Amino acid sequence: MIPLRFLLVAALLCATALTAPPARAEDLGERAFRKCQSCHMVGEGAKLRAGPTLNGIFEAPKGGLEKYRYSRVMAEARKAGEIWSLEALDAFLTDPRKTMPGTRMVFAGIRDPEERAALILWLARFDKEGKVEE
Ligand code: HEC
Repeated sequence: MIPLRFLLVAALLCATALTAPPARAEDLGERAFRKCQSCHMVGEGAKLRAGPTLNGIFEAPKGGLEKYRYSRVMAEARKAGEIWSLEALDAFLTDPRKTMPGTRMVFAGIRDPEERAALILWLARFDKEGKVEE
């Protein structure tokens, strides 16, 4: 289940979440994830690509996968106890290299706040095992 608190914050970020049925926000999120797929997998059986798997990423510790070798900046964020809150994900996905200088994620960022919110919402549906609760 996606926490209600998250839906409320997402709704603030994303006018679509307020006005459109959830299915539309979900489509938007799934479509946005195409930009990430060359480097990231989610879902059951997801494997590491250039980037770590993103199952259960919402509110998980930054740099949390044991089997993935992160950049120094990501490893330091982990040590500092930082988590992928909604705000942290939103900032990182807007401009990864500005938010975390030295990150190995080579991605320009997503400018559209609505697209980011839909993507984060879509990602938040996957638990640590990559399962989605309907
Ligand atoms: C060109 C490859 C590439 C693309 C495209 C890409 N990423 Fe990444 N991503 C990475 C790499 C590499 C890392 C590890 C970064 C580090 O260690 O600094 C990463 C790290 C992350 C993390 C932190 C994961 C963790 O375990 O802490 C998140 C969240 C993330 N990416 C989300 C996304 C999303 C969402 C998209 C699509 C909008 C995306 N990335 C697109 C390569 C990519």
